[in-house]
Amino acid sequence: MAPAKPEFQWTRRHLLGLEELSKDEIVHILDLAQGFKQISTRSIKKAPALRGKVVVLLFFEPSTRTSMSFSLAAQRLSADVLEFHSESSSIRKGETLVDTARNIEAMGVDIFILRHPATGAPQLLSRSVNASVVNAGDGEHEHPTQGLLDLYTMREAKGRIEGLKVAIVGDIAHSRVARSNLWALTKLGAEVTFVGPPTQLPAGLAECGAKLAWDLDAVLPEMDVVNLLRIQAERQGKNSFPTIREYSRLFGMNAERLARCKKDVLVMHPGPINRGVEITSEVADGPNSAILQQVANGVAIRMAVMYLVAGARGK
Ligand code: CP
Repeated sequence: MAPAKPEFQWTRRHLLGLEELSKDEIVHILDLAQGFKQISTRSIKKAPALRGKVVVLLFFEPSTRTSMSFSLAAQRLSADVLEFHSESSSIRKGETLVDTARNIEAMGVDIFILRHPATGAPQLLSRSVNASVVNAGDGEHEHPTQGLLDLYTMREAKGRIEGLKVAIVGDIAHSRVARSNLWALTKLGAEVTFVGPPTQLPAGLAECGAKLAWDLDAVLPEMDVVNLLRIQAERQGKNSFPTIREYSRLFGMNAERLARCKKDVLVMHPGPINRGVEITSEVADGPNSAILQQVANGVAIRMAVMYLVAGARGK
């Protein structure tokens, strides 16, 4: 008889990226989120798990999905939530990120949720405050809760992650979503193929366990999941590709391309989508699209993450 699996002990006070997480840690978050998802189906969508805790959303870049779902997730667990908007704050008077966070922490804070254009900003913050820090997207580095909600959505739809063939399509070079997906998917046994213009496919990613491809039509028929990325215009220099129309012709998902895929292919996109560029409305709003399920699952994933880091005693 196999020995009983010991109770999993979560020890991380911060969630900074998926690269440093083990397979067991990732699976633990997904399993916990499955339980939290039930709360969102109740008429009273509230649980007391974070009652008395204070969560601060520190966003230095625009966001709709991530900021609102962290806020909703924290409120569903009965935490108090403060929202900080950099453009209307004393950042405008020259205050640094660390000084800003330390001053807010002095009011009594348990968890900072940080989105920042600089790679490594969450790591810096985690070394500068006593509260937990959750990375809500740092530059081109990682967007760990997006990666987790993407895996959750794949597992929910396909019943497994191991063995899935996943294409991640588009502006890989500038995508923190692509990196977080890569770390988590490969740890759980999926096969990742990055597809995009050569100017947006860093060769180093092949050494991290991904296949690289330039011809979307050639790879589509064997894929279980196609995850389309937004062109990160705000992070690109000039001339990453000739024109939007050219990009859309070569890498956009449309009905014709969907017809080349497996019948049950899952089409995903982290949002915000640019209709007619990386995906047509027909596909985005069609039966293979999991885009709104991703958003719904994001709340459960963020409930699980905040619950775990708030209760951790470790590093
Ligand atoms: N997927 C995502 O991060 O969306 P927002 O930028 O709207 O948060």
